[in-house]
Amino acid sequence: MEILDAIPACKAPPGGRLDDAMLANYRAAGVLILEDFVPVEKCVQLRERALELVDAFDPQTVRHVFSTTRQTQLDDRYFYESGDKIRFFLEDDAFDANGKLRQAKEHCLNKMGHAMHDLDPVFDAFSRTPELAALVDSLGFEEPGIIQSMYIFKPPRIGGEVICHQDSTFIYTEPQSCVGFWFALEDATLENGCMHFIPGAHKMPLKQRNYRRDDGTFIIETIDDTPWPEDRKLPAEAKAGTLVIFDGRMPHLSGANLSDRSRHAYTLHVIDQRCHYPANNWLQRGPDMPLRGFD
Ligand code: FE2
Repeated sequence: MEILDAIPACKAPPGGRLDDAMLANYRAAGVLILEDFVPVEKCVQLRERALELVDAFDPQTVRHVFSTTRQTQLDDRYFYESGDKIRFFLEDDAFDANGKLRQAKEHCLNKMGHAMHDLDPVFDAFSRTPELAALVDSLGFEEPGIIQSMYIFKPPRIGGEVICHQDSTFIYTEPQSCVGFWFALEDATLENGCMHFIPGAHKMPLKQRNYRRDDGTFIIETIDDTPWPEDRKLPAEAKAGTLVIFDGRMPHLSGANLSDRSRHAYTLHVIDQRCHYPANNWLQRGPDMPLRGFD
């Protein structure tokens, strides 16, 4: 395994399909930055739709937080049952000591998930474009399924850090097939908590399976305890409209947002439906919501 000194980046290919050189870069690094994949107007439209959904949400009814550092969601059904719903998760520091939101509602949310792409027409249209379908096809998926969507708010001042992890830890298939699609809806910079990757480290084994269902509880299973070379992590600053694709085994993280600007992003996770999706994965959907690809 070779850790690389740069994250490959290029202009989004017309039509979405990666050419051989782009594919080779992606396979070597496990991550590829595609600039201007989405027109900025489409990013604005998705942000506006997200804020409409936020408007209809009352944070006092669910004071749930989502944190990868504190693992507070371990016994939280609101989280575990969100695979086929649209639900809202607050930042750790959303409320002050008096139980009041510290700042405007949309600036207290960590994320929204995990099925906007199937339940909301605006998210559906953003998630299922000919360009994305062509990109996914060029990556070798034969029967792609969009298993989850997340809207990441990374709000100003209280946007929490996300510690280093692999997404196949949460979205596990046999064999592993998960690929992450991360869309910058606003400019992501070092100041507002951009993503970081360790290019090349996707060739390391999967470290954990997280929140595996086990007799009514959810457990963290350690598969391999080889440490990641986190000192080789590189930032992926990204202008609005950029798409970053990364292998499910790519270790990645993002810092806290202590700046005055939000860092909204949208993610999709795609699996190949030819692979086995275990019934004990935390993320499940009901029989009335079969997994869909890009049609
Ligand atoms: Fe992730």
